[in-house]
Amino acid sequence: MPQAEATQEKIATNASNGHGAGDSGVNAVTSNAVLSEAAPGSAGEVIIQTNDLRKIYRAPFSREGKTALHGLTIDVKRGEIFGLVGPNGSGKTTTLKLLLGLIKPTAGEVSVFGRGPDDVAVKQRIGFLPDGPYFYDYLNSYEVLDFYGRLFGYSADERARRSEAMLDMVALNKADRKRPIRTYSKGMMQRVGLAQSLLNDPELLFLDEPTTGLDPIGARQMKDAILNVRAMGKTVLLCSHLLADVQAICDRVAIISEGQLVKFGTVPELVGPSQRFEVFASGIADSALAEASKKGYQHEKQPDGLVIFHTTSSEQLDDVLSFVRQSNGSTVDVKGYSETLEDVFVRSVKGDGR
Ligand SMILES: Nc1ncnc2c1ncn2[C@@H]1O[C@H](COP(=O)(O)OP(=O)(O)O)[C@@H](O)[C@H]1O
Ligand SMILES: [Mg+2]
Repeated sequence: MPQAEATQEKIATNASNGHGAGDSGVNAVTSNAVLSEAAPGSAGEVIIQTNDLRKIYRAPFSREGKTALHGLTIDVKRGEIFGLVGPNGSGKTTTLKLLLGLIKPTAGEVSVFGRGPDDVAVKQRIGFLPDGPYFYDYLNSYEVLDFYGRLFGYSADERARRSEAMLDMVALNKADRKRPIRTYSKGMMQRVGLAQSLLNDPELLFLDEPTTGLDPIGARQMKDAILNVRAMGKTVLLCSHLLADVQAICDRVAIISEGQLVKFGTVPELVGPSQRFEVFASGIADSALAEASKKGYQHEKQPDGLVIFHTTSSEQLDDVLSFVRQSNGSTVDVKGYSETLEDVFVRSVKGDGR
C-alpha cells in the first residue's frame, strides 16, 4: 500500500470507528435519537447498491497495480443480514472500505441510502466493526462505551442507558462488564466491539470478520448477537471467510473469489434442494436386505435392527421408500442433506458452475 493512502485509510478507519476526536461534532446530531425498535423505511428496499465496482491499488506514479475488485455488482436490502464471503484476499475488506467511503473506487459506483458514501448524512446512519477491533484494555466495557458515548455527545444519563442496552443486546453478563477488557476472551471483546458499533443506533451495520478467531461458543454468542441486531430491524452487511457461519445466519450471500462475484442469492437458492437422503426403516428381513443390495441400494444395519438406506437422488429416494413398503418394513425417519455453502464455493471456483 502506498504510504500516503495507508495513512489516510488509517485516519479514516479510526474516525469511522469512533477513535477520532473529530467525530464528536458530526455525530452529536444523533444524540437525541431514541434507540429505535425498528429502523424507518420499508423492508426489502435496496439500501446499498454497487455497480461494476472496481478497485486497483496502485502505488503513486506507478502503472503497476494490484486489482482487488474486478467489477462487483451487488445490492443489499433493508432488514437483511447480507454475507459477503470469500477466501482471504478475495476483496471483502476492500468492498467494505469502498462502501464506507474510506477508499475511492478506480471505476464503478457505490450508493448507500441512495447517496455517495462520503455523505455525512450517510455516516450518521451506519455502524462499523472493523476486523480485530482494539480497545484500551485497562477499561471495563462500561467505560469503553461511555468513552464512545462522549464522542457522540450524549449526556451521562443517555450514555448509561445506551451502554446498558447495547451490552444487554450482545449478552455480555453483568459481572463481566465490570472487569477490565484485558481479562476478556476474544469473543467477549468482539461483542463489546459490536455494542460500540451500535451505540449511535445505526440503521446499517458493517461487520468485518466478526466470528473469525473465536472458539465455537464465542462464535455462537456472536452469531446470536448479530441475529438480535437483525431482530431490531437493522440491516447487517457481514464479511467473512467462514462459510459455515455465513450459511447459518445470512439471508442473502455474495460469494467472491479473487475480486470477482462467483455466486449471489439467498442461502437456499445457492445450496439448492437436498441432494442426499437417509431413510431409517425398521422391520426389514435379512432376505429383503439381500434384495436391496442386488438393486444397488446402499444400506447399513444397526445393532438395534434399524436399517439406514443412503440415497443420492430424489428418484432413488422414491424407489427405496416403495421398497421398504413392499418388504413390509416401516419408514421411521427420512433425513435430507443439501450442499453446504462451502461445497457451492469449491464447485464454483473449480469452474464447474451450475
Ligand atoms: N492498501 C492496499 N494496497 C495494495 N494491495 C492491497 C491493499 N489492501 C488490500 N490489498 C490487496 O487486495 C486484495 C484484496 O484484499 P482484501 O480486500 O483485504 O481481501 P479480504 O478482506 O477478502 O481478505 C488482496 O490481494 C490484498 O493483498
Ligand atoms: Mg478482510
